[in-house]
Amino acid sequence: MQSGFAVMRRIKLPFAGLTIDFVDRESALKRVFEWAERGTYPVQVVFGPEGCGKTAWLRQSAELLKDMGFDVIYFNPVERDVLVELGLHDLKRDFLRLVEELSRQHMVANIAWSVIDFARRAVEHGSKRIAILVDDIFQDIGISKSATYVKGLLGLLEHPPREYERIVSVVATSEGISRREIGKHDWADLKPMWNMGRDSFEQLYNLLPDPKPDFEYIWRMTGGNPRYLEQLYKANWIIDKVVEKIVEGKNITPSFVAKWKRLLEKAVEDPDVLWEPDTPQELVDELIERNLIVYLLSKRDPWFWVDTPPPEKDLELGIGRYVAWQTPLHREAVRKVLEMYN
Ligand SMILES: Nc1ncnc2c1ncn2[C@@H]1O[C@H](COP(=O)(O)OP(=O)(O)OP(=O)(O)O)[C@@H](O)[C@H]1O
Ligand SMILES: [Mg+2]
Repeated sequence: MQSGFAVMRRIKLPFAGLTIDFVDRESALKRVFEWAERGTYPVQVVFGPEGCGKTAWLRQSAELLKDMGFDVIYFNPVERDVLVELGLHDLKRDFLRLVEELSRQHMVANIAWSVIDFARRAVEHGSKRIAILVDDIFQDIGISKSATYVKGLLGLLEHPPREYERIVSVVATSEGISRREIGKHDWADLKPMWNMGRDSFEQLYNLLPDPKPDFEYIWRMTGGNPRYLEQLYKANWIIDKVVEKIVEGKNITPSFVAKWKRLLEKAVEDPDVLWEPDTPQELVDELIERNLIVYLLSKRDPWFWVDTPPPEKDLELGIGRYVAWQTPLHREAVRKVLEMYN
């Protein structure tokens, strides 16, 4: 690997009341490095469990790309985060003004669309290397428009206003439904990202103060999801509190569970039962919409994944060959409601 990559500055992240350095994810960063060397074609759409670390990785990627001489536009409406590194200072100023104005008017979707316009203008004004990193915009622009948005980004790659050297376009989403919308077309390369690998996750766990449950237990409960590690820490490691929040947040109601009781009882044991051809699509859709499962897991060849793929099948972690619970805690939330109404 090249030295620029190895010495990359790690960004600081707020985590569980601490400020920590971005941890590991070497393969995911290496993937960005490769994109930077070749450009992306088509647009890269990265999806994965909620809280698996997409935003942290994209923010770190923005640094990597800056170091590699890219102009960078990063936008995340959920985190209210905009980063613009443009060599073209007037354009940067205009963009930030627009962002401020639109934010004041709560027109967040318009900011997302204007990212494409400004990237186009940057190319038009001579930007040769530009990275457009758009994070979690689909709730704001409307999931039905997700494919159109990706097409807009593709338009810049295919019909630039001026010749460019390299463009890196990456969109991250945790909305399972948007994956389906985008997948209908050939405008994007859909790349899954899973929770952190065991070693990366252990590095993060080691940063948390004692006393804490042993690592093995936390790994089995979270499946390597950093957001849930943080939530467990904040809940004084009381699993039930975090599970209860998932039940509420994902609207896992008695009527939903009663309706699908027989299948859900099987799915908490092995999520691949949801893959069987006679499984009602309605149930699968409800689980995807609630972001409880990831459906249709790609082949475990790292080529298909951003970062290390999940294991082929690990029922303890709720991972099947084709379907997985986003984390073991999501599965526990469903199990809890099943048990309550048995
Ligand atoms: N590699 C990492 N090193 C340090 N902290 C991390 C890392 N990855 C994620 N985190 C932390 O874990 C938490 C969840 O990560 P993040 O917000 O990036 O997930 P996400 O996949 O973007 O979630 P969502 O699906 O809700 O958008 C954050 O507090 C983030 O700072
Ligand atoms: Mg995010």
